[in-house]
Amino acid sequence: MSDTREAQPTERGRTVHGEAANAGHRVLAPDDAEVEAYLEQALHAAPPQRVETEAPEQPDTVVVLDFGSQFAQLIARRVRELNVYSELLPHDTPMAELERRNAKAVILSGGPSSVYDTDAPRADPALWSGRIPVLGICYGLQLMAHELGGEVVPSAKREYGPATVSLTDADGLFAGIERDQPVWMSHGDSILKAPEGFRATAQTDSTPYAGLADPSRNLYGIQFHPEVVHTPIGRDVLRNFVVEIAGIRPTWTAGNLIETTVAEIRDRVGAGHVICALSGGVDSAVAATLVHRAIGDQLTCIYVDHGLMRKRESELLRVTFERDLGMRLVMVDARDRFIRRLAGVDDPEEKRRIIGDEFIRVFEEEAAKLGQIDFLTQGTLYPDVIESKTAETKTSQKIKTHHNVGGLPSDLRFKLIEPLRYLFKDEVRRVGLELGLPEAMVQRQPFPGPGLAIRIIGEVTAQRLDTLREADWIVIDEIKAAGLYRSLWQSFAILTPVRSVGVMGDGRTYANVVAVRAVTSDDGMTADWARLPYEVLAKISSRIVNEVPGVNRVVYDISSKPPATIEWE
Ligand code: XMP
Repeated sequence: MSDTREAQPTERGRTVHGEAANAGHRVLAPDDAEVEAYLEQALHAAPPQRVETEAPEQPDTVVVLDFGSQFAQLIARRVRELNVYSELLPHDTPMAELERRNAKAVILSGGPSSVYDTDAPRADPALWSGRIPVLGICYGLQLMAHELGGEVVPSAKREYGPATVSLTDADGLFAGIERDQPVWMSHGDSILKAPEGFRATAQTDSTPYAGLADPSRNLYGIQFHPEVVHTPIGRDVLRNFVVEIAGIRPTWTAGNLIETTVAEIRDRVGAGHVICALSGGVDSAVAATLVHRAIGDQLTCIYVDHGLMRKRESELLRVTFERDLGMRLVMVDARDRFIRRLAGVDDPEEKRRIIGDEFIRVFEEEAAKLGQIDFLTQGTLYPDVIESKTAETKTSQKIKTHHNVGGLPSDLRFKLIEPLRYLFKDEVRRVGLELGLPEAMVQRQPFPGPGLAIRIIGEVTAQRLDTLREADWIVIDEIKAAGLYRSLWQSFAILTPVRSVGVMGDGRTYANVVAVRAVTSDDGMTADWARLPYEVLAKISSRIVNEVPGVNRVVYDISSKPPATIEWE
């Protein structure tokens, strides 16, 4: 697919930056019934007016320069797990910009290129000056070696996978780590000769330069990936670099973050009025709670109950936000409207389009009733915001209409408040817990924007929704009872249109088949079916057949993604 971002900046399937959503391995926003997806889907809208704010107080930062590795984001996440703020920037970000962003250390990610490629991505040469400590990983290391006069040789074969590394240097990066370590390696080219001033710090059977260092210039490099779980010492290596070598204090904590974000919101909003659309998902919940903490009743939350939510979800939302947190909450019962528009529709994309369209109508009507509104809060996350310059993220194929961060309709031009725009999902959860949101909301599995509508194969009716809701409740209930809920990416029921014969008591039945789906996944882009214990499956099956009228058979979906998808529609 060619890159059409200039021509159609708000095309469906693209983020607000015009970047392809659902691109390659990068999932931009798959994990909630986030309203943005509706808003974007509903209209070919202009991008929202984003204010380029700095991260709160621009704390000491580790910048990860992105050379196209599939792990680039993961490196930033790992650094943040050390309670140090980290952001991902394009590989050619100038030194002056790095300094402006308070970079106290820089990590060069890996990438698919060879330093000999004609258009090999490079970094600002000022990086090698020693002013800021630099750690090169894989391609990042090779680039450093190549640029500083070492010898890198192209090799035809790419070495990729587990290896044992021998750490020959006991200081610096490897302080406190034992000599022989399993690591995850990846290299195409090899370093044949270190640049002047560098010494080898690690080796493997296939390369004497699995690690290089020139401590006098604050330059370090490793040929293995410290960010992946297959490198058990990865966290220690990163901590040595960030905390010991670069001397950064670990102040990026949920508590600090709440404090600075709340102050910033208060400052920005002044006496203005803010609305936030709650979806039931963790992102909008945390965003709203942060804004509420900052400005109290100047915030009004709108929750559109489209009737496609799971059992008790709307109830939990009301209790949490209205009763426990004391927020101004407008709950709109729009169930009939959605059902009416979905009548007779069985095409999945058409369902998504209708739901998106109806959502925006209801939302606009309610917003209009509130009078003067100055700001809209959205739960946009950091991965949605990152504007990667790597070619890879610019091409993708549209598979389903989702994963989109939406623009706003042009006649609904509020200024945006995006309090989570610097956060990864796990950080949002930590902030949510720290803010006192209930576990059930904060640890919720991803739930698609169009809700149960895309888990009912065929037409959505009130009765079929009830059937699915009951079956789904049993699945979740049993998965939770077995202590499996958090280890699964998603677990849910699907109502199929298939009817089959059964026998109950003395009678013959002819009723629906419910399918159960449970998957493990890291990011929703690939997934494997969960090997649920037979006892759990047995319990789920017998409870559904016995407790849910109209269902006499339960099957378990054992397809992985790809080639199947997680949702059935
Ligand atoms: P698939 O079915 O493509 O799903 O394997 C990947 C992830 O995306 C979620 N999903 C959606 N989320 N609107 C959303 O907000 C949608 O239309 C939608 N469709 C799928 C799905 O639940 C899974 O986590």
